[in-house]
Amino acid sequence: MASGMLRSRLVACLLNVSEGRRKDLVENVAKAALYDAEGMQRKETTVLNIFNDHDYNRSVITIVASVDSIRDAVLSACQEACALIDMRGHAGVHPCMGSVDLIPIYPLGEAVGERDCVQQALAVARGLTETVRGASVFLFGWADAALQRGLARRRKEMGWFRKSPDLRALTADVGPPPRERYGLTGVGASPYVMNCNVSIDTLDVAVGRSIAAALRESAPGGLPGVQVLALPHEGAVEIACNVESVAGAAPGGPTDPPWPRFVVDGRPYCHAPAALIMARVAELAGQQGVGVKGTALVGFTPQECMGLAELALSEGIGEFWREQRRIHM
Ligand SMILES: *[C@@H]1O[C@H](CO)[C@@H](O)[C@H](O)[C@H]1NC(C)=O
Ligand SMILES: *[C@@H]1O[C@H](CO)[C@@H](O)[C@H](O)[C@H]1NC(C)=O
Repeated sequence: MASGMLRSRLVACLLNVSEGRRKDLVENVAKAALYDAEGMQRKETTVLNIFNDHDYNRSVITIVASVDSIRDAVLSACQEACALIDMRGHAGVHPCMGSVDLIPIYPLGEAVGERDCVQQALAVARGLTETVRGASVFLFGWADAALQRGLARRRKEMGWFRKSPDLRALTADVGPPPRERYGLTGVGASPYVMNCNVSIDTLDVAVGRSIAAALRESAPGGLPGVQVLALPHEGAVEIACNVESVAGAAPGGPTDPPWPRFVVDGRPYCHAPAALIMARVAELAGQQGVGVKGTALVGFTPQECMGLAELALSEGIGEFWREQRRIHM
């Protein structure tokens, strides 16, 4: 496929799995996305990054593929993850509910939109529950056809933020009632969601919570699209932000914030820039006499994700995570 055409059909999946300590195991999950049962590399597929978090016992695998290849790549990674990760033994300070905790599908190229991503998300949800007996799925975002509920809302409804959510009280949207072995997996599609985490130099989670509360979009002066958790993390407190894209006014419009912008289905979206979030965290922490600790680790912006994927695919590199170091800012 010509590279411009491939570029326009790219989608990203930031697969969250509930294991961050056994790195080999997580690499095997990533490899399952890249190679088929015969060991042949899947075309139009690359793994840009594997982020293992030790304290959280959680990893994020960034898979980018053409919309025609994403289903097989993600499904095969999920099957491997379910075989290897048993939720009955899970320990970690990050909330989670499933061996595969989250499967979000985001459009990157301009030729893919809501419909394509929903189609792929539903195909993954059905494929997973049909091939892994006992796996259960809830749907969010564009894939939650009737209500379009966002991830944060669905997680809250299901008790995901609680220390030990009661699986027995839940029903799945796809598959059988959730049980302990695989737990419950969120599958959905939406405009790109970015991670932006900032560690602050304190052991007091209450300080982190007050900063998180002030940053949230629901707070007065909070940042639109930003959802925040404060978690104890490697001898500090991490302000972990999910930065959702918000529908923007027409580009150049008077109320449009000057934030990084992209277009899905002809509609403009933008997301709060990482630098702004970091500055706000530093300011809020400073008011309580707490500094920002070391560097903040930032995931990819949609623009970075697209650029790296093009590079990896044009050079035929599947295991791009080996080339890619964490991005420090
Ligand atoms: C990390 O979580 C996995 C399951 O999600 C579990 O099997 C493993 O024991 C946990 N690791 C530790 C050190 O708790
Ligand atoms: C940021 O923190 C969240 C915890 O909510 C974690 O799941 C994610 O992997 C972290 N991302 C990065 C890029 O550090």
